[in-house]
Amino acid sequence: MSNEKSVTIVIFGASGDLTRRKLIPALFNSYRKGRLPEQVNIVGFARRPWSHDDFRGILLDGMKSFAAATYDADEWADFIQTVWYVQGDLGTAVDYQNLNLYLNDLEGAPANRLYYLATAPRFFAPIVQNLGAAGMAVEDDGWRNLVIEKPFGRDLASAQALNEAVHAVFQESQVYRIDHYLGKETSQNILFFRFANTIFEPLWNRNYVDNVQITVTESVDVGHRAGYYDQAGVMRDMFQNHLLQLLSLVAMEPPASFAADAVRNEKAKLFHAVRPIDLAETVRARYDGYAQAEGVAPDSQTPTYAALKLYIDNWRWQGTPFYLRSGKALTKKMTEIIVEFKKPPHLMFDFVEDEDFTPNILSLCIQPDEGIHLKFEAKVPDKLETRSVDMEFHYESSFKGEALPDAYERLLLNALNGDAALFTRSDGIEAAWRLMDPIIQGWEMEAKAPAMAAYTTGSWGPEAGRALLARDGRVWRLSCGDH
Ligand code: BG6
Repeated sequence: MSNEKSVTIVIFGASGDLTRRKLIPALFNSYRKGRLPEQVNIVGFARRPWSHDDFRGILLDGMKSFAAATYDADEWADFIQTVWYVQGDLGTAVDYQNLNLYLNDLEGAPANRLYYLATAPRFFAPIVQNLGAAGMAVEDDGWRNLVIEKPFGRDLASAQALNEAVHAVFQESQVYRIDHYLGKETSQNILFFRFANTIFEPLWNRNYVDNVQITVTESVDVGHRAGYYDQAGVMRDMFQNHLLQLLSLVAMEPPASFAADAVRNEKAKLFHAVRPIDLAETVRARYDGYAQAEGVAPDSQTPTYAALKLYIDNWRWQGTPFYLRSGKALTKKMTEIIVEFKKPPHLMFDFVEDEDFTPNILSLCIQPDEGIHLKFEAKVPDKLETRSVDMEFHYESSFKGEALPDAYERLLLNALNGDAALFTRSDGIEAAWRLMDPIIQGWEMEAKAPAMAAYTTGSWGPEAGRALLARDGRVWRLSCGDH
């Protein structure tokens, strides 16, 4: 992809929160690091009757509130010269023609363009259609990449319909579907950890791994987002995207290269190998007080917490359970992946009670306190006892002074550079919905669905979450921080 031409980043829905909270701070940081193309224009498109200066002022306020640590007045003054605003209606075809004229004028010569859909999902298909009708997806004069925010559909059928609408105008190679968990440094590090080392991969299978656990908890409740959240629930909001993406990184086969399709082929294969999830192995729950939150429907059956067990029917993972859980209004915000290894086949230390014995545990600490821990047994000095000790890697101490960039920084740069490895492909997203749909629908319709459980705000979730593992003789493990 040529970088000689100038690049225009057009943000649709530029008056929304995402632009000032995430996109502009990420672009500003990349600009400071000299990573944006030399000639770049950033154009916001939205309905508000703003001038360029109004828009710039709002972005500055956002920068100071949400990314104050990286704000620098002089560099901002340079950067903001590249930012423009065009007023228009997302559903009105002629406004796209006007936008196109404005962009051609601003660019002055053939340019590359990145279209970023930062709008509510109901606008995704109309925007794509309007871009097509205005001839703005044609690549005769430079590339045209399309970034689509989440959520991508609300079930398999709507995701397929959206993919069709997108493919009617753009080639799949032009499309970048965002899952910001893939842009997190520590998520990317899962592949480095697995495939840039030799000592772990031989153990990374059903012969040595007892079970794998993925925990993504949040301490915040749904807050002012109840209107959106009540329509979505935890399966659509967190599982279909973030948790399944983490699962694929941990469980997929080694891709032959880091090229986008090599990675995404393996993810798609992995999703296809997941056995349909048994409703009896799922837990749904919501925190006390959710029903009273503003924006929640009176008859709402939306879960704010879920846990489930799944199996992957392939050679590597046959019989190894994967436990996933996520929820809002829990004890703390953290994302952690546990690989629990099997106990030794025979314990020669007869002074150790079998049930007291802690197996080896590898923890991939995605956030906060990003790092990797390995738990193993050591002899307690001067005693015939064992105790679990930790070998720990922390980004903060090993990479001193190298701040972890926000996920959006990496994702935007990759979309600008035409690298789609950290974005979901149409088949992958559909495969993920194929796994989630039966659970979401089953909870609504099936008599044998687990009842909605309740949990106290600030707890680790409902008793049923604990019981899901307890009936297999297991417990949820956490070892990244203080628990
Ligand atoms: C978003 C969900 O995709 O991810 C939110 O819509 C959630 O509900 C957020 O809070 C969590 O992201 P992070 O990066 O803060 O863990």
